Amino acid sequence: MKLFDVYPLNPIEIVKGEGSLVWDSNGQEYLDLYGGHAVISIGHSHPHYVKRLTEQLNEIGFYSNSIRIRGQEELAEKLGQVSGKADYKLFLCNSGAEANENALKLASFYNGRKKIIAFKGAFHGRTSLAVAATDNPKIVAPVNETDNIVFLPLNDLDALNEAFQAYGNEICAVIIEGIQGVGGIKPANDDFLRLIRSLCDTYNSVYIADSVQCGYARSGKFYSHEYAGVDADIYTMAKGMGNGFPVAGISIAPKFQSWHGMLGTTFGGNHLACAAALAVLEVIEQENLLANALTVGEYLMKELGKFEQVREVRGKGLMIGIDLPEELSHVKKDLLFKHHIFTGEAKPNVIRLLPALNMNKAHADRFLQAFNSILNP
Ligand SMILES: Cc1ncc(COP(=O)(O)O)c(C=O)c1O
Repeated sequence: MKLFDVYPLNPIEIVKGEGSLVWDSNGQEYLDLYGGHAVISIGHSHPHYVKRLTEQLNEIGFYSNSIRIRGQEELAEKLGQVSGKADYKLFLCNSGAEANENALKLASFYNGRKKIIAFKGAFHGRTSLAVAATDNPKIVAPVNETDNIVFLPLNDLDALNEAFQAYGNEICAVIIEGIQGVGGIKPANDDFLRLIRSLCDTYNSVYIADSVQCGYARSGKFYSHEYAGVDADIYTMAKGMGNGFPVAGISIAPKFQSWHGMLGTTFGGNHLACAAALAVLEVIEQENLLANALTVGEYLMKELGKFEQVREVRGKGLMIGIDLPEELSHVKKDLLFKHHIFTGEAKPNVIRLLPALNMNKAHADRFLQAFNSILNP
């Protein structure tokens, strides 16, 4: 049997990782500023994470949601505390798409409506409603097509106001990334998020903050949406939540009522997933990673802004986009194959930095030196 070939692969096999470094099967070391697509939040094979998962596995790895799982309660408590949303409630699932799917469904259960506002450049996942709210027709299958989603331009206050004036009482939810990731590291403006909040309040629509990529401390705040100073109704999270163990969740404002059977999943919130997610939050707290993401991120953005060839540097904390002109489209490959540094990308020509949140200044300097030697040979 062969693999169903959907991923364009780099010819590299990674076999070991430690912190912000990984090694391939030939023993070559790489600096990982991609974090396996924003997933590695506390660094590869963090000792506290390995210990917690190992201990849990030696006790029990999985049992279903038909019994009490104490780790879920501990995780809810800890997440409420670290994210500053102690009065919200937690539903656990397995992936970012699933988190968004559940958030949209919950919004629709709440107000009984169908229309969803999403934004140009958005990526919310590949399941049916999440992909329909994703601005990429290539990955939307005919069966996913729906008239229920309306795409508006990002950060356009007038367009948002007009949509609510025209059919506000039909709008179920507004779903928005605090910083668009796949769309090229494009932050939502604070005044735009504040307008979403006030329109959702006026029309009883639900504000869903997709924090799958920009959340979990990556931006220097726990959810990047917090920069706007208003609360969302539902925060969705995945990626950095388990540092590589598949775990996701939605944090739900107190106004939503649950009933048995309303949402559900077989694997979501299992013992191992909770141990992984708790280990991540403990390390975020113990190692003060919110502050580190800000300090190292600001340093990187300041230094990157000095390169005259760079068109724009965007982002917050350790979610950084380096917008390059067409003639520098080779930089990402050069970083990987000549300097052994993993980075992400976004179309057409943006290098995405999504490193572990405990990346240090020495790692930043190693990257800046390599970047300089490619741009100024
Ligand atoms: C903002 C955002 N939402 C949702 C998703 C989907 O997450 P997953 O691939 O875990 O389903 C992604 C994945 O890249 C994402 O960046």
